[in-house]
Amino acid sequence: MRLLVLGGTRFVGRALVAEAVRRGDDVTVVHRGTTGSAPPGVRTLLADRRAPGSLAEALASAPGGGEWDAVVDTWSAEPVAVRDAVRLLRDRTGHYGYVSSRSVYRWPPQPGADEDAPVVDGDAGGTDAADYAAAKRGGELAVLEGFADRSLLARAGLILGPHEDVGRLPWWLHRTSRGGVVPAPGPPDLPLQYVDARDLAAWLLDAAERAVTGTFNAVGPRGHATMSSLLGACRAAVAQDGPAAELVWLTPREVAAAGATGWNDLPIWTPPDSDLAGLHHGDVSAAQEAGLRCRPVEETVADTWEWLRAEGMPAPRTDRPPLGPAPAVDRALAELAAGAASRVTLRPAVVDDVPEVMAFWGRAAEDAHRPADSTAAVERLLARDSEALVLAEADGRIVGTVVVGWDGWRCHLYRLAVDPERRRQGIGARLIAHAEERFRSLGGTRSDAMVLDDNDLAHAAWRAAGYAPQSEWSRWVKPLGG
Ligand SMILES: NC(=O)c1ccc[n+]([C@@H]2O[C@H](COP(=O)([O-])OP(=O)(O)OC[C@H]3O[C@@H](n4cnc5c(N)ncnc54)[C@H](OP(=O)(O)O)[C@@H]3O)[C@@H](O)[C@H]2O)c1
Repeated sequence: MRLLVLGGTRFVGRALVAEAVRRGDDVTVVHRGTTGSAPPGVRTLLADRRAPGSLAEALASAPGGGEWDAVVDTWSAEPVAVRDAVRLLRDRTGHYGYVSSRSVYRWPPQPGADEDAPVVDGDAGGTDAADYAAAKRGGELAVLEGFADRSLLARAGLILGPHEDVGRLPWWLHRTSRGGVVPAPGPPDLPLQYVDARDLAAWLLDAAERAVTGTFNAVGPRGHATMSSLLGACRAAVAQDGPAAELVWLTPREVAAAGATGWNDLPIWTPPDSDLAGLHHGDVSAAQEAGLRCRPVEETVADTWEWLRAEGMPAPRTDRPPLGPAPAVDRALAELAAGAASRVTLRPAVVDDVPEVMAFWGRAAEDAHRPADSTAAVERLLARDSEALVLAEADGRIVGTVVVGWDGWRCHLYRLAVDPERRRQGIGARLIAHAEERFRSLGGTRSDAMVLDDNDLAHAAWRAAGYAPQSEWSRWVKPLGG
């Protein structure tokens, strides 16, 4: 495909160009030459879309005067620049993909709304980009003027992934990489809706190849990730590079009491009962039917961390609101989280605890595929190593356990269990972090965990703590009998 990308060197445009190059497309980009450059093999035309005549001159300098099968316009600024591009391209380009935004919908976004929801007013000849929603709507109208039935308007919502220049996911990765108690805005199972820029790019190119037209809410399905899976993935991604982070979940009421708001103070998060809630609750069935597919959140987060490790935090965009809470709000969140964390205390079990531990495992621990719990065995364990069984307690009750087995050489973790009513509150993570500290202090170099193949909940918890299965071997056992 002969592809023209208006933009192409920043976040979405960069992903688009990379994917098109990977597919073997003949790619041309147009930009001013101030934000990076296109990869080898891509033709660059320099133009300032704000300068009269500049784009026309650049397009005319393309080989053969310039003809393309498809153009994708990723730029977010004045509609009049989109209209100028449309007028120059309508007779020499087949398909116009415009990266628009769900911001075009009237505020507040209605949960479950599809592409027919009311939009703000826009002017295809508008010269002002300060009102983002109106500018994106104006850009849409400009595209429709010239490519009515040959255009795709991709109303993206939250876009994440490597090279994200708004800095939302980078903010969380940076926060978790500092380690310690991380105030996590709950509820942990809050469904999120976003798209990885690379998936958006692949879909836009597929759509251009298949001449798909129309208007689409271009994000993944609601709940493709949750606040817990996103922050758990952040924790797992940074785990190898710094001090362990402990996610301590705060209720939306606690977050509000600290003075923090959603979306910008705590990026990505939206309080469930606020006007922001609709941002993570759009109807995306049209885009799904048109083939938009989303990779797992763990991949998006891990790749974004790889990019940050290599290149550092991006400079914040000056045309978007700043991210992160004000210092006083940050302190209030930290105090609340420290209080919530301290309500759960960890200590080694003693023999008197064993009956309660047995009862706890009866309701909180996986019991298939293994010998029944034995009071005598736990007592023997404590007699041999008084710090081998660690308990998490809250309000005088056991809410979690882990066995931290050290034989002088190897480090074995098993019987990690958390009260079903206290899961996803960071208790398992604290137990694991505590165990690792013990192993390190004893000279251990690698921590092994027993994790059932069919326990998805446990997989998520262990992965979030930085553990991964080893493919080289599996456990071989032989009952010793009598
Ligand atoms: N991030 C999100 O969560 C989100 C959500 C919804 C929608 N969106 C939309 O997604 C798109 C993001 O795309 P993006 O990050 O790739 O693009 P972008 O930041 O909007 O545009 C940057 C590209 O345009 C070029 N450019 C900037 N000014 C120019 C000018 N005057 N003339 C010619 N080229 C110019 C830049 O290169 P030079 O600087 O070298 O010129 C760069 O290649 C935007 O349209 C945004 O509205 C984003």
